[in-house]
Amino acid sequence: MYRTHNCGELNIKDVGKEVILSGWIQKIRNLGSLFFIDIRDYFGITQLIISKKSVKKNFFLGKEYLIQVKGKVVERLSKNYNISTGEIEISIDHIELLNSSLSLPFTIENKTDGNEEIRMIYRYLDIRRNPIKNNLIARHNLSLEIRNFLSKNGFLEVETPVLINSTPEGARSFVVPSRTHINKFYALAQSPQLFKQLLMIGGIDKYFQIVKCFRDEDSRSDRQIEFTQIDCEMSFVKVHDVLVFFEHFIKHIFKKIKNIQLDSFPCISYFDAIKKYGTDSPDIRFNMSFVELNDLVQKKDINFLKKQELVIGIKVERFQDNNNNNEINSFLKKIEKKNFFWIKYLYDKTLLYSKQKFLNDKIIKIFIKHFEAIPGELLFFSYGKKRDTRKELGKIRSKIADFLNLKNYKIFKPLWITDLPLLEWEEKSKKYKSVHHPFTSPKEEDIYLLEINPKKIRSKSYDLIINGIEIGSGSIRIHNKKIQNLIFKHLGLSQKEIESKFGFFIKAFEYGIPPHGGIAFGLDRLINLLEGNDNIKNFIAFPKNNYGKDIMINAPSFLEKEKLKELHFR
Ligand code: AMO
Repeated sequence: MYRTHNCGELNIKDVGKEVILSGWIQKIRNLGSLFFIDIRDYFGITQLIISKKSVKKNFFLGKEYLIQVKGKVVERLSKNYNISTGEIEISIDHIELLNSSLSLPFTIENKTDGNEEIRMIYRYLDIRRNPIKNNLIARHNLSLEIRNFLSKNGFLEVETPVLINSTPEGARSFVVPSRTHINKFYALAQSPQLFKQLLMIGGIDKYFQIVKCFRDEDSRSDRQIEFTQIDCEMSFVKVHDVLVFFEHFIKHIFKKIKNIQLDSFPCISYFDAIKKYGTDSPDIRFNMSFVELNDLVQKKDINFLKKQELVIGIKVERFQDNNNNNEINSFLKKIEKKNFFWIKYLYDKTLLYSKQKFLNDKIIKIFIKHFEAIPGELLFFSYGKKRDTRKELGKIRSKIADFLNLKNYKIFKPLWITDLPLLEWEEKSKKYKSVHHPFTSPKEEDIYLLEINPKKIRSKSYDLIINGIEIGSGSIRIHNKKIQNLIFKHLGLSQKEIESKFGFFIKAFEYGIPPHGGIAFGLDRLINLLEGNDNIKNFIAFPKNNYGKDIMINAPSFLEKEKLKELHFR
């Protein structure tokens, strides 16, 4: 028997028991005639006390050595109330070495001295540390809750294939050469999109899957090439049904995992989000929504600004109270020459403003009045072409929120963004491209625009944004063969290409396809957000680095000549 108990379960009630424990040595303190050793396993840490006499000569112990000990639970003299085993220690009469350890590349403590690279190379050691282990436990608990909730609500978990053909999800696919089919390739699924729709055609009323997806794209703090989706689909639903159910789902998750009761999710259209926040994934933990000023500058005859396509501003409340004044001032200085200007209304009622030629005291006062600004506030403006002006002010809004510490990771503000455009023009390929994916249904009332102005067509799509991060995305799907074909054609696919790539799919439409829709949430992003972390890597047991490499196993790697030959590469 390796153990009678684990290293996290013994306490004062166990005093007097004879026990066997196994674990890694976290710490050794040599007190002359006595050793104090902390041993650690998955469950916790227990203190051992061993007299030097009971240890054989030349018996060496070091950090992370794996030992098995036999002894008696005794009450500690100096107790540690911070851990559950802190009132006892084990008085050891027998110790055995199960395995030794090399000296460590970094300290295995909650706060380690290891940088990210070294921790990635020795990820199995990193996983011994509480922060990573606890993240994996949190992820497990979340997955379990999701499975239970969706199963209870009539969703069936179905596995779909990973080796498929390339699906158009907007990223590049990873391809896998076939040994038996010369010059042919599989693609790793970017998502189960087509299969979940086929499941609806197959009469599965509600489907879900916690599923690995693969996308050949650059890694970022919220993006990995191999990531996990909570993929869902439902038959006989409209946009409203999906939003209501999944709002309930997300609220349930937050209540169960964080004991947080979320408010109702506001719902804004894509176009309004861009107008109000300059982005389709706004962070609404703070306000600072855009105020359009074109009418004002016309009315007040502010010459330079009158000529601009768009003039917008934001009001930053309690700006003067913050502690990052130096940082903000140097930021304001840096952007002074671009298409921005600012006004500071100080508590002593002085008005400071940026040094653009077209500004003067009279104009400044017009803006102060319009925004009903009070002392201590900052006004920030952007002008120029509509698209860029909104995008730039959106970024600045987010940056100012960083400076003012407005992004409290314990506050969660979800919202739905709806009616995203169906298509966008891609200058490089001179083709239209789906904003979501080609199976997204256009809004019926906009279909006529296909021939006139495809960019203006709104789709039956929705994104779930929480704290400025896209946590989920989905849509009602096309369930009409004609419309699906029409969309494929607008994406530049010839009849032949439609037939060869999606023939099987279009054919399935002819066997009574039900109306259906769904959504997929990023599991890595969701757990990262719930736990207030800033990188999804910390919740993936064996993540890739920022260059898409697994530096522990050294993947990707070259193939031996023989293997290449087998795969028909010369
Ligand atoms: P989409 O491509 O928007 O939609 O993906 C859905 C959600 O998956 C997460 N996500 C990612 N997470 C980590 N790393 C990545 N590289 C990554 N890419 C996406 C995001 C995103 O919101 N088939 C559709 C869904 C549908 O229409 O039902 C799809 O895959 O949180």
